[in-house]
Amino acid sequence: DDFVSRTQAIVAELKALEGPLLPILHAVQESFGYVPDEVKPVLAEALNLSRAEVHGVVSFYHDFRTHPSGRHVLKLCRAEACQSRGGEALADRVRELLGVDFHQTTQDGAVTLEPVYCLGLCACAPAAMLDDELHGRIDADALEGLIAEARL
Ligand code: FES
Repeated sequence: DDFVSRTQAIVAELKALEGPLLPILHAVQESFGYVPDEVKPVLAEALNLSRAEVHGVVSFYHDFRTHPSGRHVLKLCRAEACQSRGGEALADRVRELLGVDFHQTTQDGAVTLEPVYCLGLCACAPAAMLDDELHGRIDADALEGLIAEARL
């Protein structure tokens, strides 16, 4: 099928790299928006790994999505600097506003909520990113604004 043939093409292109699994997974995610279950056996076979190993890598790295995302992706930083500046309360608030937990997508398909571990904006903690746009010093109001923007 389509996932499989496109994954085989990605593998053919990147297989020669040293430690090819991560770059291949990133390319797969870039291509499909997530890492579909169907591609894991293809990668396992091509790279001489067990399916469990491939699955383990996909679930270990927070970067990989296992389901298609919503129209927008809201990432809230969960790393230390942001945690120490009210990140936990923001996390509670965002879960409440969206009605979903991290790694989930809202019912209307508008927003996928994801954790991220440092956006490089520690000096402006707490930080978030909506699609490709970084936002620092966010508070509950700013968060509501971002969500409203994503739902337009
Ligand atoms: Fe949140 Fe660095 S810890 S941006």
